[in-house]
Amino acid sequence: MSSRNLTCSFFSLVLLAGCGSEAITTASNYATDSMAQAAAAGLSHGEYVARLGNCVACHSTAEGAPLAGGLKMAVPMLGNIYATNITPDSETGIGQYTFDEFDRVMRTGVARDGHRLYPAMPYPSYAKISGQDMRALFSFLMEEVTAVTQANIPSEITGLLSPRWPLAIWNVVTMDNDPYIPNNNQSDQWNRGAYLVQGLGHCGACHTPRGLILQEKGLDEGSNAFLSGAPLDHWTASSLNGDVNSGLGRWETNDIVEFLQTGHNRFGTAFGTMVEVVNNSTQHMSVSDQQSMAEYLKSLPAVNEINAQPYNYTDTATKQLLSLNFSTPGAQVYYEYCSSCHVTSGGGYYPYQPPLSGNPVIMDPDPSSLINITLNGSLRVNAEKGGPDINDMPYFRLLLSDQQIAEALTFARSSWGNNAPSVSAEQVGEIRAATDPSRNDDIVVLRMK
Ligand code: HEC
Ligand code: HEC
Ligand code: HEC
Repeated sequence: MSSRNLTCSFFSLVLLAGCGSEAITTASNYATDSMAQAAAAGLSHGEYVARLGNCVACHSTAEGAPLAGGLKMAVPMLGNIYATNITPDSETGIGQYTFDEFDRVMRTGVARDGHRLYPAMPYPSYAKISGQDMRALFSFLMEEVTAVTQANIPSEITGLLSPRWPLAIWNVVTMDNDPYIPNNNQSDQWNRGAYLVQGLGHCGACHTPRGLILQEKGLDEGSNAFLSGAPLDHWTASSLNGDVNSGLGRWETNDIVEFLQTGHNRFGTAFGTMVEVVNNSTQHMSVSDQQSMAEYLKSLPAVNEINAQPYNYTDTATKQLLSLNFSTPGAQVYYEYCSSCHVTSGGGYYPYQPPLSGNPVIMDPDPSSLINITLNGSLRVNAEKGGPDINDMPYFRLLLSDQQIAEALTFARSSWGNNAPSVSAEQVGEIRAATDPSRNDDIVVLRMK
């Protein structure tokens, strides 16, 4: 997209004036609403936008100063990259950025000095941020965040993409830099939800599968791949579409709101990298914004499980466990190591211990998350409304073999009406070798300024 177009859509957003084919025909509040929601959440407009975008999750570390960078991120197949200092320090941070330069790096990944960012920074999503929200975000970073002198750590990228120039090609092939364009056939609330999920929330950065050059395979509901579930960093972000078993097909709008607010609901608990999202971003959103996102997510169709039978509890496994019949592989490991919390019926104790029966993540075709949490435990939710997780999933890395974990998970994936493929000892072995449980059960909520 040319810079003329960018300016054009920027002004059309601000003035709600027509501008060629990108004319905005209704005064939808999707883009102007952040200010009202910020007030409802008790934050400045810019800080609220930074919460929506979860800048801290990558640009802060638990030990470091807010937004001073330094977090190491593994980029699949390429190597490691470090998030940069985005405090207003003029030497090591973004103090010298003008608004236009900031707008460009946020939407296209081209930094002030012209170098191109790796898409570990989710600029394909942030391209959809409205002009008003972008201005507020810039003011927050420049005026409210404390400048910190902390030099950036060079990236450790090898192979094809080590010189940054091929990223220019990447961008041309994969990107659409348009700010969010509302769908006039949908309600204001739906549009607000779409704006947040596709844009600031960058939910697709984890939940959408990536293609050969690591591009997200879809950036909105027009693609079946959008939010259909994807592996990242030895976790799987499960499907958020309408699939009735492994997606959100059986969730009500309120179940989604509760999950985004507290990290729990009757279907499961946030774990793995989703904890950072709940702790630092979604719990700080206004209820109205949580509802808008839920409404948008509930409008996504089923993709992989069209015409599938929705999950239905059956008591065969429960009865076997209660009569100490361990003939099914994994039943005994489950009984001895898991049932004290997840219960013989698989139903857990809401809201303290998540159920494994009927839980969409248990029926995810890709078991990586389940293996990872069983080996290593997980960071914990600390939500203002749901409180800190007092219960914690223990880590079984030292107690159980690959075979035992594979069997316990296979048992959980095929009992109580669950119907998901089995897990192999090899799959467990791979994740055991690639992960490390240290500090995994901490409670981390990052400060914004
Ligand atoms: C998923 C992780 C992630 C999130 C979330 C994220 N960033 Fe980044 N960001 C990065 C990484 C990694 C880089 C460095 C990329 C590189 O060096 O190629 C970066 C670079 C930047 C830069 C370029 C700075 C420079 O040194 O020139 C800016 C500005 C920026 N981010 C702002 C933001 C803002 C504002 C938000 C929140 C709305 C945000 N980022 C959210 C990962 C993230
Ligand atoms: C940093 C990666 C990451 C980002 C960004 C992310 N998620 Fe997640 N999400 C995950 C992972 C991993 C899981 C699976 C573990 C779990 O259920 O908590 C998950 C699970 C979920 C679930 C529960 C699904 C289920 O079936 O139990 C919901 C709902 C969800 N995410 C919504 C969102 C929304 C909405 C956004 C954007 C605001 C988002 N996520 C952004 C990683 C992420
Ligand atoms: C001491 C109680 C306890 C025991 C024992 C336990 N878990 Fe958990 N489990 C939890 C809690 C609590 C969570 C929620 C995540 C968190 O807060 O760490 C969880 C989460 C999970 C999840 C992710 C589901 C979700 O929606 O969060 C899986 C899968 C899981 N446990 C499997 C197992 C298996 C397999 C065993 C036995 C080998 C086991 N658990 C034993 C308490 C327990």
